[in-house]
Formats: sequence, C-alpha cells, structure tokens
Amino acid sequence: MQEIVFATNNSHKLDEIRSIIGARFKVLSLADIGCFDDIPETADTLEGNALQKARYVKEHYGYDCFADDTGLMVDALDGAPGVYSARYAGPGHDSRANRALLLENMLGHTDRRARFVTVIALIKDGAEHTFTGTVEGEILTAPEGEGGFGYDPVFRPQGFDATFASMSPEDKNAISHRGRATARLVAFLKS
Ligand code: IMP
Repeated sequence: MQEIVFATNNSHKLDEIRSIIGARFKVLSLADIGCFDDIPETADTLEGNALQKARYVKEHYGYDCFADDTGLMVDALDGAPGVYSARYAGPGHDSRANRALLLENMLGHTDRRARFVTVIALIKDGAEHTFTGTVEGEILTAPEGEGGFGYDPVFRPQGFDATFASMSPEDKNAISHRGRATARLVAFLKS
C-alpha cells in the first residue's frame, strides 16, 4: 500500500479522505509522521499556501504529500476575506468573530454573491499538481443553522434554500468546494 501524507491534523478532514480514497493508499496525518511543526502559510494565494505546506513536508520529512487551503471570496468585498479567511477578525481563528465581521462589512451591500474555493496541492513522484474545487453562493444577512463550522451559517449555496450549517455533512460534501477538490485529487490518484 502506498503511503501519502495529508498535511493536516484535522480528524474530520482525515476521516473524509480516508473513506473515499480506497485501499491503495494509506493516508498519514502530520502527527503520524512525527511532524509537530508550525508549518508556514505565508503566501498570498490559496495555491501558494497549499504548495508551501506540501513542499515543507516533502523537504523536511521526505514523504509524498498533499495539503489544502480554503478561502471564502465575497464579490462586494473585492474577494475578501479570501486567503485570510481563518484570521479575518484577527489572529486566533475565532469563527464567531470572523462571521460577525463579515456580516458587518456586508451591511448595505445588495450584491451578496460569494464562493468558497479549495485548492489541494499534491507532490507525488517528484511532480507538483493542484486541484481546485469551487461552490458559488451568497452571504445571508444573519446566521442560520447549527451545524458545520467557520462561515457555514452565513453561506447559502446556489440552488439551495438552506445554509451549509443547515445541511447534513453528506449533503454539504456532495457539493462543497472541499468535496469537489477532493474528488479531483482522488480521481487523479486512482488513475
Ligand atoms: P482551511 O484552509 O481549511 O483551514 O480553511 C480556512 C478557513 O476558511 C477556516 O478557518 C474557515 O474559517 C473557512 N472555511 C474553510 N472551509 C470552510 C467550510 O467548509 N465552511 C465554512 N468555512 C470554511
């Protein structure tokens, strides 16, 4: 079985990829390879950050690796919070504060269009590849729904009545940015 590292310790993301990647690959987490480093994410694009993380693991630990980065791009805010989605309201990764700031900055805007974008960077057999997944939608004026995480309660995907926070994880994964990017990665790995 081929070993490949997913540069994350997020157990939800690990479970998800392990359930769809099939028996040919053993997906290792950062903890599994003894990496407890604060991996730099200093690029100003999602692709740059994903590549930076994958290259770090390859260079320092020698494993083939993939890494992801996600952002919420809001048209009326010129693409913000974008690559800075995790720390929009400041360092500390506080989702509630990030959502509150987003709703505040959207006050008075009638153009509510937005999209989630995930880029996965893969380094395998000496080559680099990237896979992108996007979901279009809009920003509500107030949170709705109890599930999900991050900006889920304020994002309603196009063609749906419910926010991501009101959908089951399965329904969200089937149309989400991360689900779509992951499907492309898995198709490549299986090909
Ligand atoms: P990451 O690159 O997966 O760590 O995502 C960066 C930030 O984007 C997170 O801290 C969340 O605020 C936000 N985010 C990523 N994926 C989602 C999602 O599926 N729903 C809502 N927010 C998300």
